[in-house]
Amino acid sequence: MSAISTIDAIYRHFLKRYLFGRDAEYAHRTMLRMLAATPAFPAPPDAPELGTNLWGIDFPNPIGLAAGMDKDAVAVHGWETLGFGFAELGTITPRPQPGNEIPRIWRVPERRALINRLGFPSEGMEAVAPRIEQLRKAGVSIPLALNFGPNKDTPSERTAADYIALIERLGPLADFIVVNVSSPNTPGLRDWESSEKMSELFEAIHEHAAKLPHPPPVLVKISPDLERNELFRVCETVLALGIEGIVACNTTIMRESVGVSSPHPGGLSGQPILIRTRELIRDIFTHTRGQIPIIGVGGIASAEDAWLHIRAGASLVELYTGLVYEGPGLIARIKSGLADLLRRGGFRSISEAVGIDR
Ligand SMILES: Cc1cc2nc3c(=O)[nH]c(=O)nc-3n(C[C@H](O)[C@H](O)[C@H](O)COP(=O)(O)O)c2cc1C
Repeated sequence: MSAISTIDAIYRHFLKRYLFGRDAEYAHRTMLRMLAATPAFPAPPDAPELGTNLWGIDFPNPIGLAAGMDKDAVAVHGWETLGFGFAELGTITPRPQPGNEIPRIWRVPERRALINRLGFPSEGMEAVAPRIEQLRKAGVSIPLALNFGPNKDTPSERTAADYIALIERLGPLADFIVVNVSSPNTPGLRDWESSEKMSELFEAIHEHAAKLPHPPPVLVKISPDLERNELFRVCETVLALGIEGIVACNTTIMRESVGVSSPHPGGLSGQPILIRTRELIRDIFTHTRGQIPIIGVGGIASAEDAWLHIRAGASLVELYTGLVYEGPGLIARIKSGLADLLRRGGFRSISEAVGIDR
């Protein structure tokens, strides 16, 4: 039995029962501590057809860890060990902040979903930077994306300055950057999804990113709650500004329309947003004529889910909530399932399948 299948069996038979009997944030912290303490085992090499290259970066497989799971970059070797092809760390804010009051994560087990209103708890960029510097020195086998957001008490006229501070401090340590303008838990953040504000923000970001010795690609993470016409405007803005990719999508504030009737406030993730995410990916792919790489994130809990996001137009995918419900063996299961689906469909690589269902 491999290390991962042992961890997975322990999770599914014992740990999940224990953790699901406790507060969701306590469970999250426990898992993170365990992963951070796990000695780094190299994951078995990936099937070559799962490898892909975007922005000149090699990804051993297209399955990434979504933002929010490891906000302060404390368990990166754990994500490598589980077999992820990349990890998006953050959201990181410039200054440390505690986030919203507890409780602030809830499970909706009958829908295999989570609701959170964390509000970017972050140790801040000065705490995260030395961890990533250390990882870079020691060697890390997967690309690392850093996801940035502003502090809650930053006035809106200083929001761009917060992103710029993050780019200057952490940009040199990132394989690519994700600008988060779509969390529903930071008041006013989603205003930056409008074309005018997005243009203002990204012009400032690009100006500063271009000054870095090796400017990393900068992507934008969007919300699933955009109307179709708003989404098309975002696509046009992304094309016009030369934003290098779209992460679709963050959590939703929808409830009834996705069949969830929970009283808890915040962003909903997991199975209820799977179909909405896929529609969004397909719309973005079609509207940008496949010119902008899309990272598809929302509701993935199986190889089939990842495959259909890829066929809709995602070049890479990520997940968070699926890992909580399915356990750490999910990544290995998705990868072997994807390799089978590629073979059965006669595809030689993931990139050949991107967008074929548009
Ligand atoms: C508890 C929790 C915290 C999250 N925190 C962040 C965050 O800090 N930044 C971010 O961009 N997305 C955050 N997300 C959103 C995820 O990255 C992802 O976009 C969303 O959950 C949909 O994917 P999933 O259905 O696989 O969970 C968070 C999600 C959850 C469940």
